[in-house]
Amino acid sequence: MAAHRNILILTGAGISAESGIDTFRGGGGLWEQHRVEDVATPEAFARDPDLVLRFYDMRRAAIQTREPNPAHAALARLEQLWPGEVTVVTQNVDDLHERAGSHNVMHMHGEHLSAWCTACGERMGWTGPLLDRPPCPSCDEPSLRPDIVWFGEIPYRMEEIHAALDRADLFVSIGTSGAVYPAAGFVRLAREIGAETLEINLEPSQGTHWFDEARHGPAGRQVPAWVEELLAGL
Ligand code: OAD
Repeated sequence: MAAHRNILILTGAGISAESGIDTFRGGGGLWEQHRVEDVATPEAFARDPDLVLRFYDMRRAAIQTREPNPAHAALARLEQLWPGEVTVVTQNVDDLHERAGSHNVMHMHGEHLSAWCTACGERMGWTGPLLDRPPCPSCDEPSLRPDIVWFGEIPYRMEEIHAALDRADLFVSIGTSGAVYPAAGFVRLAREIGAETLEINLEPSQGTHWFDEARHGPAGRQVPAWVEELLAGL
C-alpha cells in the first residue's frame, strides 16, 4: 500500500458512531425514528419548517457535545505524515474530522455548523438554534436554513470530488452503508481509473463486492490499525 501516492477516503456515519452520534440506517438509526420525508427534504421544510428546524437544532446542539474518536484522529495523522495527497470526502455533517486535525475535508452533504440564507444566498458558520428565525447576519432577513443537502438536492463540491477521485491511487470507504448515491458509486469510479479499493466497516456494506479488500469491525479499532500499517510501510 506504500506505493499509493494519493489516497481518497470516503467516510460515513459509522466513523462517528463511537463518538456517540447516531447512524442513519440499521437498528436505532435516525431514519428508524424519523421519516426522511418529514425532516430531510425541501418539501418537508416548505410544509413544516418548525419540525425540520427543531430536528436540526437538536442535532447541531448534540454534535457540539461529542468528541472525535481514534478513527478520526488516525485519518488526521495520516494526512499529516503521508507524503502524497490525503483527501477526506465525508457524507457526515458533524465537524469531528476537523476537530481531530484533518484539513483536507470536503463535506458533500453539508454541515451542521453552517447556516444558509435562502434570501441572499450567504453561508455562514452557525452554532446556535434556527427555530427562533434569527436574522441573517448578511441581509437581515429571517431566512436561514440548515446548510444540509436534503434528499432531492445536489451534493456539494462534486467537481472537486471527481477531480480528487481521478487523482486517487487508493480509495478507502469507511463507515458507510453504501445506500446513498452518488457517494455509493465512488468505488466504481475509483476502480475505473485503476485505483485500489478498501472498505472498512462494521459489517459488509451494500457495495462490499466492489472492493478489492474489506476489513470489518469498529472504525475506532480498524482505522488506526490500517493507518499504522500504511505508515510503517513508508
Ligand atoms: P448509514 O447509517 O447508512 O450507514 C452507516 C454504516 O456504518 C453502516 O454500514 C454500519 O454498519 C456502519 N457502522 C456502524 N457503526 C460503526 C462503527 N463503529 N465502525 C464502523 N462502521 C460502523 O450512514 P451513511 O452511509 O453515512 O444523508 O449514510 C449516507 C447518507 O444517508 C447520510 O449522509 C445521510 C443519510 O440519509 C443525508 O442526510 C443527505
